[in-house]
Amino acid sequence: MRNKVIAGNWKMHKTNSEALQLVKALKVKTAGIKKTGMIVCPPATAISVVSDILSASPIAVGAQNLYWEKHGAFTGELSAEMILSAGATYVIIGHSERRQYFGETDDTVNRRLHRALESGLKPIVCVGERLDEREGNITEKVIETQISGALKGISGAQMKGIIIAYEPVWAIGTGKTASPEQAQEVHAFIRKWLREQYDLGTSEAVIIQYGGSVKPGNAESLLKQPDIDGALVGGACLEADSFAGIIKIAEAIN
Ligand code: PGA
Repeated sequence: MRNKVIAGNWKMHKTNSEALQLVKALKVKTAGIKKTGMIVCPPATAISVVSDILSASPIAVGAQNLYWEKHGAFTGELSAEMILSAGATYVIIGHSERRQYFGETDDTVNRRLHRALESGLKPIVCVGERLDEREGNITEKVIETQISGALKGISGAQMKGIIIAYEPVWAIGTGKTASPEQAQEVHAFIRKWLREQYDLGTSEAVIIQYGGSVKPGNAESLLKQPDIDGALVGGACLEADSFAGIIKIAEAIN
């Protein structure tokens, strides 16, 4: 059985002192959590201080992006080694905001993914359709193109260590959540695709998170769906109470 995994994507929020305040509170509020995976993804500037505070805690730390080269003249980019040395063990790849504003494509997602896996970083790969694509009834086609592009050349053994986050773009930061049934339908589609490309064991092992306006108030109905194995949380992860609230809901379902 898959235990739920809740990740918080802080995006471009929190100075280092604000970051410390948040994770200290989070540590206290999640003290009793036993089965639910917990990940925080602060901005790169705070990875090191957050990792220090969380070093003896079950809360893991992730970066929000990485570059595929090991080092070199790539101003502004971060290598996997730099991220690991700062204390993070996870990395978000292909978030829709990276795709929308920073030119990320399925091909660059794939390059970053291979580099993350080679380096030992655990990837969270994001996919999701835009509103016009959902309204045009091409959601499954879009998701299939994204996952097959992102996962090109990934072996079955590697696949088991990848988290997929399904985040409909129209639900991110908008307050509009996919209904539990809408989300479950896409999650089941992704799992079926994994079964066809790999095998049953692999498809059953992969964690598929839902993301898009997840809050304590809607988390339970989403996380109760059979193929929704956790959440990638944006806005609601910026306060310890709401993020811990979602984690506790996941723990009760686990
Ligand atoms: P949101 O963001 O929860 O604020 O909608 C989710 C995400 O972008 O990962």
